[in-house]
Amino acid sequence: MRVLALPEAEVPGELKLQVAELQDQAWPGPPAPSTVPVHDPALRPLSMLLLDGDRVVAALDVLSKQLAHAGRTYAASGLSGVVTDRARRGWGHGRHLVSAARAAVRESGADLALFTCDRGLQGFYESAGWEPLPGTVLVGGTPEEPFPSDGAGFDKVTMAGFFSGHAVRHRADFPGSRIALHPGEIDRLW
Ligand SMILES: CC(C)(COP(=O)(O)OP(=O)(O)OC[C@H]1O[C@@H](n2cnc3c(N)ncnc32)[C@H](O)[C@@H]1OP(=O)(O)O)[C@@H](O)C(=O)NCCC(=O)NCCS
Repeated sequence: MRVLALPEAEVPGELKLQVAELQDQAWPGPPAPSTVPVHDPALRPLSMLLLDGDRVVAALDVLSKQLAHAGRTYAASGLSGVVTDRARRGWGHGRHLVSAARAAVRESGADLALFTCDRGLQGFYESAGWEPLPGTVLVGGTPEEPFPSDGAGFDKVTMAGFFSGHAVRHRADFPGSRIALHPGEIDRLW
């Protein structure tokens, strides 16, 4: 097993197709699996793949942007599209990859990472080192068309990692807050 990390646009077509098939298992529906990039290039998408030989076992993308919160700015990243091949779930592959992603974001120089997950997956992410932010809402979408993580039908938890001294010093600004992440119209809530 090895982790391959590449900008989304540089992932070889055969691997990209396998990732799309895993995502289609988890989130079926159009468009059909294809090799076309799915993320907003402005978010500098980094694909991380857990490979068993040339088979993609699990995949995710790290997205990044500048974030303004409580009067300060941060280099922020988040996880998107975390998925393990349905035939290989429950073997620790997902934890392996989201743990590797935490290390990669920390080493990238980002101040912090923030993302949301369904409440039932909080323990999965905690087991890989991520921490929950009680009561925190990520506001996705755009300022004109916000897409908050506490919207109707959602039961989501915000997970975080605080890496730089700047982020660690101001971490008290994050629990219980509404964070205007606004990743845009393509990755509405990363
Ligand atoms: C979530 C997902 C990526 C986990 O991958 P995985 O490879 O099966 O996870 P692991 O085997 O590393 O599991 C690690 C731990 O998390 C737990 N866990 C895994 N999936 C879980 C789920 N769906 N609900 C609750 N707990 C889960 C496991 O039981 C395990 O705990 P344990 O060590 O106490 O047994 C996988 O279930 C998946 O692809 N789901 C569909 C897509 C999805 O929901 N992605 C998350 C988007 S936020």
